[in-house]
Amino acid sequence: MKRSYLILTVFISVIFLIFSCQHEIQFPAGGGKTDSAVTPAAPPPPLPPPPVTGSSCSVDTVYFASTILPMLNSNCAMSGCHNGLSSGDAGETTLNTYAGIRAIVSPGNPGSSKLVDVITNGSMPPSGHTPISSSQLAAIETWISQGASNNACSAGTCDTTNVTYSVTISTILQNNCTGCHSGSAPSGAGIDLTSYANVLTQVNSGKLWGDVSHSAGYNAMPLGGTILSACDLNMISSWIHKGAPNN
Ligand code: HEC
Repeated sequence: MKRSYLILTVFISVIFLIFSCQHEIQFPAGGGKTDSAVTPAAPPPPLPPPPVTGSSCSVDTVYFASTILPMLNSNCAMSGCHNGLSSGDAGETTLNTYAGIRAIVSPGNPGSSKLVDVITNGSMPPSGHTPISSSQLAAIETWISQGASNNACSAGTCDTTNVTYSVTISTILQNNCTGCHSGSAPSGAGIDLTSYANVLTQVNSGKLWGDVSHSAGYNAMPLGGTILSACDLNMISSWIHKGAPNN
């Protein structure tokens, strides 16, 4: 008897919670939220700088977590391609996980790695998609030469004092987003994120911050990938707080 009262009380509380939440958060058909109390059209103030720590990153090493994975997710794992959800050959090769990427490389030997081969022979990405640049290819080759491990490093102190669009922001977008968000017909909702004007439009709608911060009611970006590092998010947040200048 007591037990059923408990269950009933919990059930009623849950129903009550669900209904009380509905008054706070509204999702209009257009996507973004309108309730000014909850709309992060502007990001929260930048997080306080993390404690000063030394970087564990070596300038001579290419890291899987910060360079290879975001690059291949953005350039190869868009919808219909190597995202593990597609069919046919594209579905068999999954390029948004370490295991999937590891399956087409030969550690220590870029020359006999299928990943390098399809890029250098021009078959991937297929025409119409943004090609892998020579510096991106060089990073892939170095990573494979260094053993193609699932390595990561910690960037140490995150300095947000001199964030610029031309260097900081465009580099973050290029490393994580522009595979899907560039070219004449970007697979990412037709949105090109290689020009300042286009990026500003997404900042002003609140979607850039809502999406990268994985806020409720927004589309989590990078699609299918991991959330940007705390430092990258902090850089974007401080830049938006300074008025998203074209500096
Ligand atoms: C693997 C492909 C892919 C990557 C990588 C990617 N996007 Fe997207 N993006 C999409 C798709 C597809 C949409 C359309 C919405 C959807 O289907 O979720 C989209 C939509 C958007 C939108 C449109 C607004 C909205 O929410 O509807 C913004 C802004 C955006 N992405 C920003 C980014 C940013 C910033 C990054 C990098 C941090 C990024 N995207 C990385 C595929 C991608």
